[in-house]
Amino acid sequence: MIIGKTATLLAFDQTWLGLVQKWVNRPDVRSGTGTEGPVSDFEHRKWYERILSDRSQRVFLIGQGQGEGAVPVGLIGLKNVNQRYRSAEYWIYLGEPDARRKGLAEEATILILRFAFMGLGLNRIYLRVMQCNAPAVRLYEKVGFILEGVAREDFLLNGRFENSALYSMLSREFEEKFGRETN
Ligand SMILES: CC(C)(COP(=O)(O)OP(=O)(O)OC[C@H]1O[C@@H](n2cnc3c(N)ncnc32)[C@H](O)[C@@H]1OP(=O)(O)O)[C@@H](O)C(=O)NCCC(=O)NCCS
Repeated sequence: MIIGKTATLLAFDQTWLGLVQKWVNRPDVRSGTGTEGPVSDFEHRKWYERILSDRSQRVFLIGQGQGEGAVPVGLIGLKNVNQRYRSAEYWIYLGEPDARRKGLAEEATILILRFAFMGLGLNRIYLRVMQCNAPAVRLYEKVGFILEGVAREDFLLNGRFENSALYSMLSREFEEKFGRETN
């Protein structure tokens, strides 16, 4: 468990599989992340079994609240964790709309970045986002991710091609902005 002020990163285990499947099948989550759907029970369980045994992935529930009693409202993770280049790709969504606009994604992002840089010793965290996803773009820029480039017409969403943007943050940039120690 990684505890923040208003958000906690909780272990993701099978108790929460049904809830997470409900979240990934929400149209707003699917269009935000650009994933196809709907996800069946079978696919969902296969995905869960894959992440359990895949050391290049780390997945946490985002809990609203502090510590044990935090209520799961979303999912956050690192994938493509590469120990040779010390890099990973970060992703996030909040599945409960009532939990949005309360600063939870921002705090959860800072918590997972601290875990990635200080806990795993990574140097570069990157992400890909559709440029039309204004809430996500603003979140990433507010946290301090740097725009590296744009891939034109990279996604197909609701029959329209959308550009995607590649952002990254380096360990030294995180330290400069947030410090080495947990407050
Ligand atoms: C993007 C998402 C994770 C933001 O979560 P959130 O908890 O609502 O975000 P926060 O409350 O922490 O907001 C942090 C900052 O993000 C930006 N932001 C978040 N939601 C926003 C919105 N609806 N409109 C504009 N800016 C927004 C703001 O800059 C905000 O800071 P501010 O409140 O000081 O203005 C959430 O909207 C979501 O899960 N969307 C669906 C899935 C998705 O798109 N995931 C990202 C895929 S790349």
